[in-house]
Amino acid sequence: MQETPRTPLDTGREDLQTRPRVTVHFAVTLDGKVSTPGYTPARFTSADDKKRLLQVRSENDAVMVAKGTLVTDRMSLGIPDRALRNERLHRGASEEPLRVIISASGDIRLDLPIFQYPGAPIVLYTTSKIAGPNRTELEAKAAIYETGKEQVDLLHVMSHLFSHYQVRAVVCEGGPTLVRSLAEVDLIDRIVLTVAAKFFGGRLAPTLTGLPGDFLPASRHFKLVNNEIGANEFYLTYEHEACTRRIRL
Ligand SMILES: NC(=O)c1ccc[n+]([C@@H]2O[C@H](COP(=O)([O-])OP(=O)(O)OC[C@H]3O[C@@H](n4cnc5c(N)ncnc54)[C@H](OP(=O)(O)O)[C@@H]3O)[C@@H](O)[C@H]2O)c1
Repeated sequence: MQETPRTPLDTGREDLQTRPRVTVHFAVTLDGKVSTPGYTPARFTSADDKKRLLQVRSENDAVMVAKGTLVTDRMSLGIPDRALRNERLHRGASEEPLRVIISASGDIRLDLPIFQYPGAPIVLYTTSKIAGPNRTELEAKAAIYETGKEQVDLLHVMSHLFSHYQVRAVVCEGGPTLVRSLAEVDLIDRIVLTVAAKFFGGRLAPTLTGLPGDFLPASRHFKLVNNEIGANEFYLTYEHEACTRRIRL
């Protein structure tokens, strides 16, 4: 397995004093798709890439997904590899990263794998739309915070994770709807991408920022800081240009 890209954390973004660094970790096809038109589970990269996913996850204080991905990919968000868990303990971190779910509706079933895997604490950020019975059921398994009316207020989520849970680095593993929301408020510091040598096609297959729609409030600029070749796939790491002290054009 190739070594996970490591680049020095630059403090070019001043709000990194009050919120965690946000990494987005995704696999994309050559035609820029992160899933098929049927939103099937994301299992189109190599076994090495699956190990890299866990490696990057283990380097973060928290791992975040939105409800669509949690349900489709049936994620537990844990670190099954004991060596990685031991490495975390060795450096004084918790055994596994905090597990964070984003869902405006809060309509999440308790029989999902995340609630069966006895790992790190689970935190759900939702909105005032969450139904009372859902909330009551989920409270047995997760800490629940309401922030926002229609959408979860991601700026508040980040500052809450920073101050309440001492999270300094969070990796978002999907999905595209959540990435689009993070990009809207310019909350992506780093992108770790696996490019698979495949085409999916399909107008209704999502890209990293979801289905084609409105432009972002402004384009977001990144700099390629690392590239590696794997088993018929590319591993790329990008950083927000502010983290690399570049001037916005
Ligand atoms: N290739 C990859 O690396 C990769 C990675 C991850 C996912 N995927 C794929 O992406 C597909 C899922 O896409 P998706 O767009 O449905 O996934 P998603 O972003 O995981 O889920 C969308 C749902 O998450 C909640 N959500 C997202 N952003 C929110 C925000 N800002 N505020 C409040 N709620 C928010 C909403 O849940 P509620 O409806 O409950 O309000 C929304 O309906 C699957 O096929 C999955 O396999 C691929």
